[in-house]
Parts: sequence; structure tokens; C-alpha cells
Amino acid sequence: MKIGVYPGSFDPITNGHVDIIERASKMFDTLIVAVLVNQNKEPMFSTEDRIDMIKHSTDHLSNVKVDSFQGLLVNYLREKKVSYVVRGLRAMSDFENEFQMALMNKKLWKDVETVFLVTKIEYAYLSSSAVKEVAAFHGDTMDLVPDYVYNKIRLKLGV
Ligand code: PNS
Repeated sequence: MKIGVYPGSFDPITNGHVDIIERASKMFDTLIVAVLVNQNKEPMFSTEDRIDMIKHSTDHLSNVKVDSFQGLLVNYLREKKVSYVVRGLRAMSDFENEFQMALMNKKLWKDVETVFLVTKIEYAYLSSSAVKEVAAFHGDTMDLVPDYVYNKIRLKLGV
């Protein structure tokens, strides 16, 4: 069985992430969306909320599972016996970071293979940080995130 892991912060999941998940779910028998529990960064949403939003946004995809991990990604991969990592690529600015991360993961565990999916052009500008910034200044995030996430953001910000 071919299993892939799509790791990320997903704070919150955007339409761009959903697009990558939909496409990657066709490449693997099972795709695990793995949320990083990052203790150094204060996320907008708790790990539980982020997982809940991902579950709601991917409930049309029967082979997608949602999980969380702490620490090194390669340790999580080893534990799950998965060697394929999926990442989305938006622009050259992403590439540098992603290239470094993929090589570091390979250095830490030689069996890791990182698969990059290029974003759909309509999501090339989209990121969780941009969504949070727009939302913080009461801009409209309706077209940027799934409906469920849109409502969660509004609830969180009380707007
Ligand atoms: O959505 P993001 O924030 O771009 O995701 C980044 C993520 C979670 C994939 C990356 O930061 C990660 O894997 N962190 C775990 C720590 C780790 O394994 N670091 C080594 C690679 S540099």
C-alpha cells in the first residue's frame, strides 16, 4: 500500500492546501495530512481546531486521514513507516526553503522522497499567513478558505 504524508502547520487550512490534498490523494492509497504541533510558535488555532478544520475540508476524500506530530518529521515518518512526503510549491521563494527542507530530511533519513506538487495558478498568492492578516483587518477571506474554515475564522475574531 502506498502511503504519503502531507505535513504542515495548516493554521488554518486554505483552498490552496485543499487543492494539493485532492491531487495528492489520487497519487497514494492513503494520504495522511500531518499537522505540526509547534511549541515555539503561537498559532491562531489550536492543534485540535486545525485538525477539525482539515477533517471538515477533506471529508469528500475517503482515503485522507488527519493526524498531528511533534518534533522531527522524519521521526514521525519512520514511526508510521512512510517514506513519501508531499509538499506544495507556489513560487521560487518557496523553492529555496523547500529544497533545504527536502535535503535536510534526506540527510536525516535516506529513504525519504519528497514529492512537490505545483500549485494551481489561482492559489499562487495564497498562504495561511496572508489569510490571517486579511482576516485580522476584517478583509474578506470567503474565497480563500473552505466555508467551514471561513466561519471558524469569523467566530474566532468575533466578526
Ligand atoms: O506549513 P509549513 O509551516 O510550511 O510546514 C512546515 C513543516 C511543518 C513541514 C516543517 O516545518 C517541518 O517538517 N517541521 C518539523 C521539524 C523538522 O522535521 N525539521 C527538519 C526539516 S528542516
